[in-house]
Amino acid sequence: MKRAKISIIGAGNVGATCAHWAAAKELGDIVLLDIVEGLPQGKALDLMESSPIEGFDSRIVGTNNYDDTAGSDVIIITSGLPRKPGMSRDDLLTANAKIVKAVTEQAAPRSPHAVLIVVSNPLDAMVYLAWKVSGFAPNKVIGQAGVLDTARFRAFVAMALNVSVEDVNALLLGGHGDDMVPLPRHTSVGGIPLPDLLPQDQIDKIIDRARKGGGEIVALLKTGSAFYAPSAATIQMAESILRDKKRVLPCAVYCDKEYGVGGYFVGVPCVLGTGGVEKILEVKLNDQERAAFDTSASHVRELVDILKKQGFVS
Ligand code: LAC
Repeated sequence: MKRAKISIIGAGNVGATCAHWAAAKELGDIVLLDIVEGLPQGKALDLMESSPIEGFDSRIVGTNNYDDTAGSDVIIITSGLPRKPGMSRDDLLTANAKIVKAVTEQAAPRSPHAVLIVVSNPLDAMVYLAWKVSGFAPNKVIGQAGVLDTARFRAFVAMALNVSVEDVNALLLGGHGDDMVPLPRHTSVGGIPLPDLLPQDQIDKIIDRARKGGGEIVALLKTGSAFYAPSAATIQMAESILRDKKRVLPCAVYCDKEYGVGGYFVGVPCVLGTGGVEKILEVKLNDQERAAFDTSASHVRELVDILKKQGFVS
């Protein structure tokens, strides 16, 4: 059987940790690319040298040359600047648009059948840009955000109730910004709806912490943003695609009529398999959830409109 090929663009903390999780899961052979000479080569070699200890069998190559990414099944774009304390993800818009555009122009034509997973921020705008620049079908371009945001929400619920994270299931919609929309009504602990287990004021605090979860890590690290959970989330998506698992995961995907979004990438639950996004699942929202989703989606539209005005996309 042909081994899958995963190319990870950007060998910073998120990219290198994606390589680490992907190798540990033996998802396939990995190409780690960065413009900085020596960085991807050094990290790839170091990771490769851990394989006899950990017992995983993945070839891992570090490179500065996009030709080495040719024929990938999945391309993960992590390139871009991280936030500094006090910055919002939106403050990265113009700087990261230049980077994500350049990277996509190089990577996409060399792997025309790949599924593209975008991780760079501001996520919902960057995935739109990568879609436009790649020329890929919309179901082949996916943004990572919902899996991370949901994981944070699930972790905080588990901490509040002192129960295993394994038994906490949750759903979260909208953009990857502070106005993302966790849905407590669709959150359950061992099958029990969350509102039966926690009072509303505690749920509200958890929602607030999940919304600001990325900023909490930035404030602690001071020199970068989160990378363990973002990359674990990315590799869960890649695994579902490469192993055709058809996991139901919240991802930033192209929604036109779906949820009435009108042609933008917004976080909604979808089925990920070999074909990329195989289905978008529509959840019935109540009035309050609908209003919160619309606010988040209009924020995403505003960011994309700025990219259009700046000439990054038509
Ligand atoms: C976060 C950044 C990476 O949420 O968007 O941690």
